[in-house]
Amino acid sequence: WEVHKKFGSLPWDQLLAPAIDLAENGFEVSVYMSDMLIRYHEKLSGFEETSKIFQKDYPNFLTKKFIQKDLAQTLKIIAKNGRDGFYKGKVAQLIINEMNSGTGIISQTDLDNYSSIWRDPIIGYFKNHKIISMGPPSSGGIALVQLLNGAEQLETKKYNHNSLEYINTVTEIESRVYADRATHLGDPDYYNVPQASLLNKDYLFNRFNEIKSTIKTPSSEIKEGSFDINESNETTHFSIVDKFGNAVSITTTINGAYGSKVVVEGAGFLLNNEMDDFSVKPGYPNMFGLVGGEANAIEPNKRMLSSMTPTIIEKDNNLYMVLGTPGGSTIITSVFQTILNVIDYGMGMQEAVDSKKFHHQWLPDVLVVEEKTLSDELNKELTDIGHKIVNRSSLGRMDCILINEDGSLDGGADKRGDNTAIGY
Ligand code: DON
Repeated sequence: WEVHKKFGSLPWDQLLAPAIDLAENGFEVSVYMSDMLIRYHEKLSGFEETSKIFQKDYPNFLTKKFIQKDLAQTLKIIAKNGRDGFYKGKVAQLIINEMNSGTGIISQTDLDNYSSIWRDPIIGYFKNHKIISMGPPSSGGIALVQLLNGAEQLETKKYNHNSLEYINTVTEIESRVYADRATHLGDPDYYNVPQASLLNKDYLFNRFNEIKSTIKTPSSEIKEGSFDINESNETTHFSIVDKFGNAVSITTTINGAYGSKVVVEGAGFLLNNEMDDFSVKPGYPNMFGLVGGEANAIEPNKRMLSSMTPTIIEKDNNLYMVLGTPGGSTIITSVFQTILNVIDYGMGMQEAVDSKKFHHQWLPDVLVVEEKTLSDELNKELTDIGHKIVNRSSLGRMDCILINEDGSLDGGADKRGDNTAIGY
């Protein structure tokens, strides 16, 4: 709604019409979506309203259209009334009713108090590329710029792609960046995020300078960086480019799969479980294993620290790449490695997306790798230098666009998910 008011060129109700049509008349369920709905059968069946919508056709999702009548009504009200169609009136009342019947604590006052906020993006540089990404209360932009600084400083490009030296150097950088995330990042409206210090070149140089390509530092020996704070005293992704060269990189999240699993009765949408992105107590991990402290502690009206990293890259002042992904704590490292794959390893967009990924977030001190990334030999060598390796079936579901020199667009849609690259 806010983006539409500022930049939109089509009428608001026309923008919502395709979504209303899909909700009202249904769409064919993909194999990926059917698998997910079957995997979450038990959890989604625990809530009557959720079950009515999300499990109606269990287990034969592939042969039926997925219809969401209540959601269509909700979207029609939003099409008519904009922001107030959700935060006031009938839909708001349905949310409050849901809260009352489920011992929730969100009130009409909370809904009235919530508004979207325009914030400055994080801007940094990687070689001759300008990186534009999301600032606090997401950790994504600051962490990504720190990671890319580390990759440039330690010249990770000189190592063979996904070799021992590459994986170890990259994960050494990643651990230090996630240690900073845990301590220094939270909602900037409530916590004085030392953004300038965290992105300061000298600070970053010292932070990464001791890293050795074949030595793994135990996470217990890595602490957040320190500096004098002398300034005045943080999932679904779309990457879009239009014929005029405008670019949109947008990540939106309800956190866990199907959020809290609770559908607002009569309104047809799921409530999120975003509170998990806060740090409940120092050092106590959330569902992504992330730890945090004071900066991201729970407070009324405060926004939780995200890892979303919607990113736009310019090269020589021209649009060069648009990228992002879901994946919780792994969002940042998937965006980071995809950028390196294109800029340093000369991959095309789809190849960079397809390429196997790995991830280290400081704590827990484990190296998460996609299955079939490492040869047995490399697995052993990494284990020998102290990495605890955990295999995961997939990391990230990237949606990216690379702008070729002739202006044509190169789409990269992640086969790990249900992603597609389309030109209209
Ligand atoms: O904002 C965040 O960092 C999380 N709520 C993102 C969760 C997510 O990407 C789940 N998807 N796989």
